[in-house]
Amino acid sequence: MQQPVRIAPSILSADFARLGEEVRAVDEAGADWIHVDVMDGHFVPNLTIGPAVVKALRPHSAKPFDVHLMISPVDPFLEAFAGAGADIITVHPEAGPHLHRTLQAIRALGKRAGVALNPSTPAKMLDYVLEEVDLVLVMSVNPGFGGQGFIDSQLRKIEAVRKQIDKLGLAVDLEVDGGIDPSTARRAIDSGADVLVAGTATFRGGPQKYAANIGDLRR
Ligand code: DX5
Ligand code: ZN
Repeated sequence: MQQPVRIAPSILSADFARLGEEVRAVDEAGADWIHVDVMDGHFVPNLTIGPAVVKALRPHSAKPFDVHLMISPVDPFLEAFAGAGADIITVHPEAGPHLHRTLQAIRALGKRAGVALNPSTPAKMLDYVLEEVDLVLVMSVNPGFGGQGFIDSQLRKIEAVRKQIDKLGLAVDLEVDGGIDPSTARRAIDSGADVLVAGTATFRGGPQKYAANIGDLRR
């Protein structure tokens, strides 16, 4: 069942020189989760942050850390991100040969397990793993960068995943990531999403705007 909408600001669009303050600011501005984009310059064409930064940010918010791993191979790093304070660990099926095992490993670390689907990755990738999953992340841009345009075809995928989750009666969060603004947010929610990742749309205008920006996405 679709849950009330939660907003997960992506700190990829924050001021990296003041990350702790930025996390505190979006937390106070009403963020539900903190979305952390981890990139390795290999699985995606960009490099961002590692477990040491997640650990350093952990004391700055009690909200769930939603850690999106765009790294391959991913299995060798699960323990480090779990230890650093991730609450949700999301992986791409293409990031290792045994997705089912990876999901089991995340849950064995006591964390919630997520699967992220690239724009070209079909929803049927979930058919035999949905029971092992706490969150499905539909990428509405190609992963690697903030500030890209929303890919409309992903609304159909959100609808398909929503049907699958509801048919099985599972408590799985359905998150959308990339190009979210107040208008695409509305369309994603109408298609069945219940968690919205937003980088550009959260951090534009500076800290005094964060609460209004988050409010505009929720409406
Ligand atoms: C893209 C990341 C996203 C990104 C979203 O690879 O997964 O989380 O930061 O940024 P916006 O909201 O600017 O599209
Ligand atoms: Zn992300």
